[in-house]
Amino acid sequence: MNSRLATFLLLVITLSSSRPCPRRVDAAREWLSRGASIAVEDHATDVLRSPDGTFAAGFYDASPTVFTFSVWFARAADRAIDSGGNALWQSFDFPTDTLFPAQWLTAATRLVSCDRLLSAGYYRLGFSDYAMLSLFYDNGNFSSIYWPNPYFSYWQNNRRIYNFSREAAIDALGQFLSSDGTNFEAADLGAGGVRRRLTLDTDGNLRVYSLNEAAGGTWSVSWMAFGNPCNIHGVCGANAVCHYSPEPLCVCAPGNESVDKSDWSRGYRPTFRLECAQPTKLVALPHSDFWGYDLNDGEVMPFRDCANKCLENCACVVFQYKEHMECYLKSVLFNGKTFPGLPGTVYIKVPADFHVPEFHVHQWQRDGVGLAIQEDIAGCAAATDGDRKVLLKISASISTRDAGKPVWSYLYGFMSALLVVEVIVIGLGCWLFSDKGLFRRSRVYAIEEGYKLITSHFHRYSYAEIKKATKNFTDVIGRGGSGVVYKGVVDDERVVAVKVLKNVSRQSEEEFQAELSVIGRIYHMNPVRMWGCCSQGKHRILVSEYIENGSLAQKLFDRDGSDDDDVLDWNQRFRIAIGVAKGLAYLHSECSE
Ligand SMILES: *[C@@H]1O[C@H](CO)[C@@H](O)[C@H](O)[C@H]1NC(C)=O
Ligand SMILES: *[C@@H]1O[C@H](CO)[C@@H](O)[C@H](O)[C@H]1NC(C)=O
Ligand SMILES: *[C@@H]1O[C@H](CO)[C@@H](O)[C@H](O)[C@H]1NC(C)=O
Repeated sequence: MNSRLATFLLLVITLSSSRPCPRRVDAAREWLSRGASIAVEDHATDVLRSPDGTFAAGFYDASPTVFTFSVWFARAADRAIDSGGNALWQSFDFPTDTLFPAQWLTAATRLVSCDRLLSAGYYRLGFSDYAMLSLFYDNGNFSSIYWPNPYFSYWQNNRRIYNFSREAAIDALGQFLSSDGTNFEAADLGAGGVRRRLTLDTDGNLRVYSLNEAAGGTWSVSWMAFGNPCNIHGVCGANAVCHYSPEPLCVCAPGNESVDKSDWSRGYRPTFRLECAQPTKLVALPHSDFWGYDLNDGEVMPFRDCANKCLENCACVVFQYKEHMECYLKSVLFNGKTFPGLPGTVYIKVPADFHVPEFHVHQWQRDGVGLAIQEDIAGCAAATDGDRKVLLKISASISTRDAGKPVWSYLYGFMSALLVVEVIVIGLGCWLFSDKGLFRRSRVYAIEEGYKLITSHFHRYSYAEIKKATKNFTDVIGRGGSGVVYKGVVDDERVVAVKVLKNVSRQSEEEFQAELSVIGRIYHMNPVRMWGCCSQGKHRILVSEYIENGSLAQKLFDRDGSDDDDVLDWNQRFRIAIGVAKGLAYLHSECSE
């Protein structure tokens, strides 16, 4: 049926068919014969229908004056523009914003979102340079990848990279599979005979829709990539914060002029000018972040130092200060979002005499199928009606601290066991890893879409996997009070250190989980990074990154047989000592906060 349909579409689209058979010239016809035409004026009735009545093609009214030649499901209730996705594709080889079962997304194809007038929007679904299926935002000035979760690295997102077959498709039963490991299912998985489509919507969210023909041909959402649209990049434009409450709202950051009053996704213009030499102050916005445009690499430092660094740097317009004392200076206010539970506070730099006004808000509305659309409200400053205003909790004092206070009581017991290994690798880690891999420094965040708090973002390995990775526990690289450490290679070819914990048979699964969730929040360049764990039966195993060149203790004390080139010089020893001290200071300052 598909090849027949494709042929049919091709004939329609090229409009150059030389099919000889004469056809009726009434409104709903199957063929367009040579010399015949379809009139825009009669777009409502003058359409082509597939033989079984499933599909229709004709002029689609994007606005009273704009029409595009499109194909759509004839059985869907209406093809009005407001639900933003009933015009399906322009040809089978080049899907536009929609992928159907049996269509392939390949290296050469991509889905592009439509804007409100059905021209190409800023969102795109395709394979990245690393062959990872991703959602991209690109408005010409700003671009970024926002799916899979950009705060995670590829393995934390359960993806594979560098599989250059680059193919992805959704099957007739509602299962989506891709060569990079992307895998999701429609809520009505397996229901046969249901028409489904995967659409990159106008708002940048990727959704699977299922057609309910019994209920008059309505499309319902059966999967979507983002429960919280504030995690989609560019939703609110520049100088704005997306406020999830739980409906998303766009709030202008201090300064209140919208760039384009008819389209607030274009963002806002600050009403103040930041001159380099002028005195500035900081406005705190708790539980917020602006993604990207970092001027530094999340260095760990006390709050005062971070604030001073931003105040002294003309390029810095905002900084985020997170738990674990990470400081991110940023040059642009973009991809802003705020919702309770988001770790970290942003501090926006404004002139010292700037009066911080209330933040005005533009409301999102939901239509029947759950698609968030924008309501047009004249510019930000004009929104005076009380319902449309949300006063974000802001504070003008730079002493505001918002770092979370996690339960660190577990940490000491567990860390003392880990410390021996930690200290050894901390030093060498510091010394050896001046050159960082592609994904080593990706920022770990405990927040996913839709408010869901993930307490632990470790990969869970089975005991069999660990056994295979360590070749049945053969390569011992260290022994400590808490267990033996083995070298291993896991499935995605990462070399890992595997620590099999001793004397933990009395420890419950919950205790182990609680400890892991604390360790999972440690993110610092000196302590070795934990990647995964295994808790099966009586086995409790930790999987962490593997640091080459053996342990520091070996370097310092086991001098037999090694040549003199291997001796650490004083400069190296000094840097190792600093690295160890930084790692310890990080662990201790967290404990005391
Ligand atoms: C990109 O930047 C230019 C110059 O600043 C501006 O005129 C244009 O409107 C921007 N485009 C978008 C989509 O923001
Ligand atoms: C790459 O993806 C294809 C599926 O698209 C799969 O058949 C193949 O095994 C994958 N290759 C590797 C090395 O994982
Ligand atoms: C911005 O807000 C301030 C006070 O909040 C107001 O005085 C000013 O007129 C507003 N600017 C515009 C362009 O509406």
